[in-house]
Amino acid sequence: MRPALIDTDPGIDDALALLLAWSSPEIQVEAITTVAGNVPLDVATTNVLRLLALRRPTPRPVVAPGAASPLARALTTATRYHGEDGLGDLPDWPSVEPAPASPDAVSVIVDAARRHGRELTLVALGPLTNLALALKEDAAAVRRIGRVVAMGGAVDVPGNVTPTAEFNMHVDPEAAHRVLAAGLPLELVPLDATRQAVLPRAGMRVALARSPGTLAVRIQAFSERAFRIAHGDGSQGMALHDPLAVAVAVDPSLAKWEAMRLAIGPDGETLRASGAPNCRVAKGVESDRFLRLFLDRLCPATSRRSASS
Ligand code: BDR
Ligand code: CA
Repeated sequence: MRPALIDTDPGIDDALALLLAWSSPEIQVEAITTVAGNVPLDVATTNVLRLLALRRPTPRPVVAPGAASPLARALTTATRYHGEDGLGDLPDWPSVEPAPASPDAVSVIVDAARRHGRELTLVALGPLTNLALALKEDAAAVRRIGRVVAMGGAVDVPGNVTPTAEFNMHVDPEAAHRVLAAGLPLELVPLDATRQAVLPRAGMRVALARSPGTLAVRIQAFSERAFRIAHGDGSQGMALHDPLAVAVAVDPSLAKWEAMRLAIGPDGETLRASGAPNCRVAKGVESDRFLRLFLDRLCPATSRRSASS
């Protein structure tokens, strides 16, 4: 089991990614840091706490709130897609205690980097603001992290917020620029790969029916909004952007990688540039193998116990 830290802005697909990570024996999620992105920071943090209360992973990870806004611009959220509350606007989440403000995300990232160095896998599922701030705090320690897997970018495909930019990069291009320039062992999972990771609604239903219970019901309910929007847009299902980043963190052989040099454009475009590679990029994915892994792990059979309790 390798220690892992997940930086996230839940978000429906972030929630599915966390559930996958908590059911993946290859990694132990020590800490979850939150960042403003899909929703404002306090909403993102509440959602992590809701998901922890629902799934109760052991050991329980530390939760640390991070940046409330991008480095140099105003926050753009994605509530049209994820709902005002980031998780499909269900009316009946049990209430959770607010997370303490300390430790904060930057100190948790820097501390994990100092303690684990090459052993650590950091998975970033939102704008890269916290990681950029951690680099500012202690670049040498952050550079010793073994793997930094980040969902973001649209290299040879259209963007999803502008014709050329993907959401996570678009929200904080200054942070993305700093991360790409930092000499990290960066593995980028852009829309080029995640648009190949499409989960049909029926596939999710069948998989959840294998593990009936509170967890399955809740996953089905908060995912419904994403399926509705995807089908309304003419897609065959929900693109599992963030779950794919967790999956390749667990098993890099799921993706086809290309080393490349990327620069960040003014709107967060990920542009091919000349010169030595500064990351490797997932350009393709073994979709069937990924979907099988995701669905097998999403909702473990233990939820039956909570259904009958
Ligand atoms: C990314 O944007 C967010 O809305 C999703 O959670 C994912 O991280 C996809 O572009
Ligand atoms: Ca996300």
